[in-house]
Amino acid sequence: MDKIIEMKNIQKLFPSVVALDNITFDLYPGEVHVLIGENGAGKSTLMKILSGVYTPTQGTIVINGKEYSKLTPKESMEHGISVIFQELSVIDELSIAENLFVGKLPTTRALGVLPMVDHKYINQRAQELLDQVGLRVKPTTMVENLSISQKQLVEIAKALASNAKVLIMDEPTSSLNLEEVNNLFTIIRALKKSGVGIVYISHKMRELREIGDRITVLKDGKTVGTKKIEDVGSDEEIVSMMVGRELKNSYFNREMSHVTDQVIFEARHIVRADKKVDDVSFQLHQGEILGFAGLVGAGRTELMNVIYGSEQPASGEIWMDGKKLVIKSPYHSIKNGIGMITENRRQTGFMDNFEIWRNIAIARSLKESKLNGTWGLTSRRKELTLAREFSKKMRVKCTSVEQMVANLSGGNQQKVIIGKWLAADARLLIFDEPTRGIDVGAKNEIYQIMRDLANQGKGIIMVSSELPELLSVCDRIVVFGGGKIRTILSAEEATEEKIMLAAT
Ligand SMILES: Nc1ncnc2c1ncn2[C@@H]1O[C@H](COP(=O)(O)OP(=O)(O)OP(=O)(O)O)[C@@H](O)[C@H]1O
Ligand SMILES: [Mg+2]
Repeated sequence: MDKIIEMKNIQKLFPSVVALDNITFDLYPGEVHVLIGENGAGKSTLMKILSGVYTPTQGTIVINGKEYSKLTPKESMEHGISVIFQELSVIDELSIAENLFVGKLPTTRALGVLPMVDHKYINQRAQELLDQVGLRVKPTTMVENLSISQKQLVEIAKALASNAKVLIMDEPTSSLNLEEVNNLFTIIRALKKSGVGIVYISHKMRELREIGDRITVLKDGKTVGTKKIEDVGSDEEIVSMMVGRELKNSYFNREMSHVTDQVIFEARHIVRADKKVDDVSFQLHQGEILGFAGLVGAGRTELMNVIYGSEQPASGEIWMDGKKLVIKSPYHSIKNGIGMITENRRQTGFMDNFEIWRNIAIARSLKESKLNGTWGLTSRRKELTLAREFSKKMRVKCTSVEQMVANLSGGNQQKVIIGKWLAADARLLIFDEPTRGIDVGAKNEIYQIMRDLANQGKGIIMVSSELPELLSVCDRIVVFGGGKIRTILSAEEATEEKIMLAAT
């Protein structure tokens, strides 16, 4: 069978980085080619070259036998290449249906002459696509009202809407739950059958085997190798290709946990007006990592937003160190030593158009500032030093802290956000899906950091959809469902089955 795509000797230089160096990559119709590598390895960059976002510095791209030295987005689209980007690109201000057809709205003629957007057709076709991806909401729903995982499904539907021949999925499952992942895999299998070639980027090992046909490993902008999935011996083999060293497989070591009796944080009868959080009370002990499990839409993020102050509860109290807190906004929570690593980093995690150093220093500077955050003695030199310390601690892959955060790879952006809260010396840290988009090596680093913070006497809340991760990292796991705490399990008694059972 002929290749649909062949990328030869691709090089991409950015002002201070060699993002890709002599990469070779190809794709056949009807296959899933997995692209894997550490954060910053060059995966997204390679795919952006294929979709016409970036111009390669050198190299050739052959599509359907036609040779290019670079592609425009239009050429890429005309060849049926469709991308689901890592940073979701759906538009909040439009409805789902409008998002699906943005840029190519089908028209009809009113009174036989006036061109008009054909809403009837759009909504009908949108409904079919939503059924196909298993998203049970009306096509007329505004995207801003959707959760991240629902937005991701819209993104997938959007790619399907364009009848793609090549579908590039850059971490498509990063915020999907198990059921949604299975659903996505069903869609992928159907697409394969119809001859679509799929490039699949993911950090999740168990997905690769399930869905992949071939795998290419990138490291520091170079190809380490391409293999058929059945020729890959073990996950460890892939990991060592990725990181160039053996990694300890599972992170956790129970002896490292030192939970004390002292309650540092307490939520009392928290209720949100819409009942997405309904009478929630729990305690967090010093040194403890408290996990929150639950299905997407269970209300975990809503609860965390209330604790962090970005949303106001209808009633309920928040206590820290035996004192009742008044939290009217995130500013108050920062002052009170509460930090939150949000699940949606592009929107709420960092300031896109600022440098790494400003992003790391901001919370600390706010915390030390006077007059409600409007005035503070921030010294650029101090902030730079602070930022260097914490970007080093987090092993952010960057050329300097003066680099723009927008130019970092997805995983490294996440590290910057965590670095920000470490720098602000928060007492309670809420990690909402902290390892989303983080490579296997860095994941372990983040777990280790969480455990170290707990052992320094901080309280840690970890919201995650990855049950194995919750099970290996947390001391206790709260199972959340329908806005309520269903049960709280200790690490010893918790299992995936028990959690799922309680959640549903
Ligand atoms: N627009 C840009 N300007 C400068 N450097 C960039 C730009 N885009 C990417 N880079 C750099 O290129 C390298 C590769 O980044 P890329 O986003 O391709 O990594 P990735 O493999 O997708 O990582 P992740 O798993 O974290 O998403 C990184 O060092 C990144 O900082
Ligand atoms: Mg990427």
